[in-house]
Amino acid sequence: MNRVASVFAITAVHTFECHRASSNASNGGESRLIRYHTGTQYDENHSQLALRVIWFSGMGEHGGAQMRTQPAEITEVKFSIHNLVTREPRAGLAEDVRRGLSSQPKRFLPKYFYDELGSQLFEAICLLPEYYLTRAENEILTRYADDIVAEIDGKITLIEMGSGSASKTRLIIEALLRQQRELLFIPVDISASALDSSSRILLQSYPQLSIDAYAGDYFAGLAELEKTTRARTLALFLGSNISNFDPDEALKFLHALRQVLHAGDALLLGADLKKDRQTLEAAYNDALGVTAAFNLNVLARINRELGGNFELRGFRHLALYNEERGRVEIYIESIRDQSVLISALDMKVDFAEGEQIHTENSYKYDLSDIANLAAETGFTRGRTWLDSEERFSSNLLLAV
Ligand code: TRP
Repeated sequence: MNRVASVFAITAVHTFECHRASSNASNGGESRLIRYHTGTQYDENHSQLALRVIWFSGMGEHGGAQMRTQPAEITEVKFSIHNLVTREPRAGLAEDVRRGLSSQPKRFLPKYFYDELGSQLFEAICLLPEYYLTRAENEILTRYADDIVAEIDGKITLIEMGSGSASKTRLIIEALLRQQRELLFIPVDISASALDSSSRILLQSYPQLSIDAYAGDYFAGLAELEKTTRARTLALFLGSNISNFDPDEALKFLHALRQVLHAGDALLLGADLKKDRQTLEAAYNDALGVTAAFNLNVLARINRELGGNFELRGFRHLALYNEERGRVEIYIESIRDQSVLISALDMKVDFAEGEQIHTENSYKYDLSDIANLAAETGFTRGRTWLDSEERFSSNLLLAV
């Protein structure tokens, strides 16, 4: 018998191990749709990531596998990326840095953390002993993924907002594939390159999967999804993604997400829980200094991309839990009086000793906060799962 199987081989891979808060904005490119077909050799300026098809003419009578390559047939579309990112990325950074450094108090937008180096540093943060969030959520999904997907009836389509990495997503995908034969996965992420590489890896792992990806910000992605119809849907918003929204932005986001769902669909929402100050501040100010490097990399990025002359040693990283507002506030603080020049902006910025740039908030929740958020946006809070140390929550919100 001549068994023939097609095997996808990927020549280079780029994995994203954890979920980024808001992903990098450094990908340009006009709006376009790239389609990958099962069995197609594909390479669009991505030669280092090209999918290759190798045909094995299975174990023959003599027990040896003969390998030959041959042109493949196009069978079905397995992978599409809709690229919604249209703005020229450097212009966006320049404009936002000018505005942020001219305002009082000074601030930066969190999305600028995630350039190439920043994304790698965030991967490292997820491995730190102090940053318990990633491990706690992994524990929950490892233990309860089957229970979570069993809460929803029917054949499920999976949406993920801010997918970045797919490592935690895999646990849900595997649980779904134990319950149904095939799966459509719709990831939405600001980074087309992250979507491209993580999608290829997923397709390689799960032959039962098709992927329809959207590269763009959350709201652009949701606006596109609203135009399409789909089967029973489970949406994922994992990691601590919700934490970087102010309360009114969180409401706006959940509202927009609810618009693309139907009654009976569900959202699995990851949320870090309120807890003691010491644990929270350590999670955002680790002993090794990785989080400090991640935060200060924004200054380094301005030096690299906008011709700035920030002296990094003249600034320090700060993370403070504001208990009243239920959030960890992240700042860059100037150690002394100093001036910085940013040549691409033709701008001189003065800093007083102790002056701060606010770079990020990370909101912490308790279960009643989540129930309220759900109730205000067309959901009810269904089951909640916690890790063994009860630090982090995975909440199933049911669309009503
Ligand atoms: N969404 C993550 C969180 O709030 C992002 C994050 C982790 C982060 N560490 C950080 C953002 C340090 C800024 C600074 O947990």
